[in-house]
Amino acid sequence: MSPSKKSSTAWYDSPLYYDIVYADYTKKESRFIEGIVQRHCPQIKGPLRVLEPACGSGRLLESMALRGHHVAGFDLNRHQVAYAQKRLKAKGLAVKVWRDGLEDFSLPKGQPYDVAHCFVSTFKYVRTERGAVASLRRMAKALRPGGLCLIGIHLTDYAKNPPDHERWAGRRQGIRVVSDTWSAPAVRTRRTEAMRTRMKITQDGKTWEEETHWKFRTYSPTEVRSLLAQVPELKLVVCHDFHYDLESTRPLKADYSDIILVLKKR
Ligand SMILES: C[S@@+](CC[C@H](N)C(=O)[O-])C[C@H]1O[C@@H](n2cnc3c(N)ncnc32)[C@H](O)[C@@H]1O
Repeated sequence: MSPSKKSSTAWYDSPLYYDIVYADYTKKESRFIEGIVQRHCPQIKGPLRVLEPACGSGRLLESMALRGHHVAGFDLNRHQVAYAQKRLKAKGLAVKVWRDGLEDFSLPKGQPYDVAHCFVSTFKYVRTERGAVASLRRMAKALRPGGLCLIGIHLTDYAKNPPDHERWAGRRQGIRVVSDTWSAPAVRTRRTEAMRTRMKITQDGKTWEEETHWKFRTYSPTEVRSLLAQVPELKLVVCHDFHYDLESTRPLKADYSDIILVLKKR
């Protein structure tokens, strides 16, 4: 079967299918956000003010809003923004969602945020160092002093640098989605890795595929430290991993690749 849709944004242009595939972790991630704030910012009481840069289909916006928090988010993809707005409205949740970019976003007027989060390697979409610095600075500016910025990224070990494959699958209301993502070995000199996702969708008795190709910026632990050195307003306090377990911390080293950076605004 050849993909019926092939582009650099195909899976984000189909927010429902993206949402089905990534629904599984939403509860864990939401609890993690609450837990990590409680642990590192005990002074913050009551509902949190949460910002989600590159919020996608709004799965975490919805989950955090349903848990009683004040939530806002933006994304570059208009299909994702429209989908997020519609789902939140359908649940009667007053959440501001707008179209904007990680590198140069603006925020609605209001109180600073307690926490900003950007999981599942989304930050690697920012392809330049300048863009990454600008993005982190903006996130820092959005936060209250002592607030947290949580960045989840897959690190690259240039010495080993194997190709990688991940499979995710989900089912909702008679729709089945299987998503395979491949990453090619990183090109160290360019700080890029070529990514490809193929979603196989079965709905109403039909099956078809949608394929997305894009490039991520790569980060070794040293490159993460070098980026953070350019944003002194954020201090790295600890790292966790993509299991979102508060009890399991990780050193920022090449031998463990899926890292959540917990950054605190000074
Ligand atoms: C892997 S999804 C993550 C979505 C959401 N945060 C989640 O956890 O489900 C990545 C999202 O980043 C968005 N994106 C990619 N590049 C972006 C950029 N430069 N600025 C804002 N959003 C971007 C895509 O449109 C997509 O919705």
